[in-house]
Amino acid sequence: MAESFKVTPWEVSGLSGETYEKLIKKFGVKKIDGPLIQKILNTAGSLHPFISLNLFYAERDLGELLDDYRKGNKFYLYTGRGPSGKMHIGHLMPFIFTKWLQEAYGVDLVIQLTDDEKYLVKNLSRKEIDGYVEDNILDILSLGFDPKHTHILVDSKQSGLMYNYAVDVAKHITVSTIKAVFGVKDSDNIGKMFFPSMQIVPSFIIPALTGRKMRCLIPYAIDQDPYFRVARDVIPKLGYYKPSAIISKFLPSLQGDSGKMSSSVESSAIFLSDDDKTVRRKLMKYAFSGGRDTVEEQRKHGANPDIDFAFNAYMMFEADAKKVRQVYDDYKSGRMLSGEMKELAAAKISEKLADMRAMKERIKGNLAPYMFDPSKFSQ
Ligand code: TYM
Repeated sequence: MAESFKVTPWEVSGLSGETYEKLIKKFGVKKIDGPLIQKILNTAGSLHPFISLNLFYAERDLGELLDDYRKGNKFYLYTGRGPSGKMHIGHLMPFIFTKWLQEAYGVDLVIQLTDDEKYLVKNLSRKEIDGYVEDNILDILSLGFDPKHTHILVDSKQSGLMYNYAVDVAKHITVSTIKAVFGVKDSDNIGKMFFPSMQIVPSFIIPALTGRKMRCLIPYAIDQDPYFRVARDVIPKLGYYKPSAIISKFLPSLQGDSGKMSSSVESSAIFLSDDDKTVRRKLMKYAFSGGRDTVEEQRKHGANPDIDFAFNAYMMFEADAKKVRQVYDDYKSGRMLSGEMKELAAAKISEKLADMRAMKERIKGNLAPYMFDPSKFSQ
């Protein structure tokens, strides 16, 4: 029977609550279970709400990486962004979580911008994509990443650093693998066949440059898993550890329907550039509610926060896990109403976006300290 959903790095549709369970089997990832949550708590010293609320829900070899960390072996983090448009709050999810990991474990982070990927898969000119590269980098950095431990790779700019490694990767991937894993068709351009090698490179670039054995942990939403499934087959053949992964569900579209939040549908997304009024209007007008039809019913039966857009958006920006839990319990029990949930979300999102815009202004024109510099890894 044909599947009712599609999840690839280049297309996501037909999502439902069950899709995420099905993807665990289909992609061969593992669910994050109780003992692993305990291990995260023991090593990180706290738990991010994205884990306790099951948003980051799957993994690959995370336990092994944390066992090694406990023995004193540091890993590094790697995540990325394809600069094909302005960023919405869904895109921030892996970056917010990665920042928490970076601080909790005290490790380096590589962020890749795949401008080559977007040129190959989207109908956009180089000029349009170039315009998004710096803007997206600023948006990501405005979360407050530490320049000493954050290293940005822009594929088109640092191709000299990455190309030979990408060729090493490409030598071990067959055409049939790329067709099966990414759904590349005979009528597609050949760049789509080669590009996955570029996205795999940062998952071994630090050990490759330093000669040190080091694990890599990659946070991402599950659409990116195909890259790293292939990476795990190839990289051991080059003499490095298989990368580990921590994998999230999507922040849904505002309407809570079968798509992820998407840049191409204005009303499905809250953009980082949206002002307070727009954020509030979008929440009030479009946000899918997990609440009941009437106040009486809501007071009596409570809401379902897990599927409520406003709750999900709120908890993305509230770093205090206790507060998130309190709001979750109040809303679920009926002490809090849907309108109140939306107001709370609007206030929290606006506050955070304003902070980020101020930070963006401060770092504009001063990106050099954040760019990947191999000499920083030479000692
Ligand atoms: P991109 O730009 O499509 O997405 C950036 C990151 O955001 C995740 N994501 C979401 N997470 C939650 N809710 C959503 N609605 C949502 N939409 C997107 C994506 O899974 C991704 O983690 N090819 C990549 C860029 C990349 C990358 C990486 C990503 C290069 N190297 C390593 C992760 C890890 C891309 O186009 O992402």
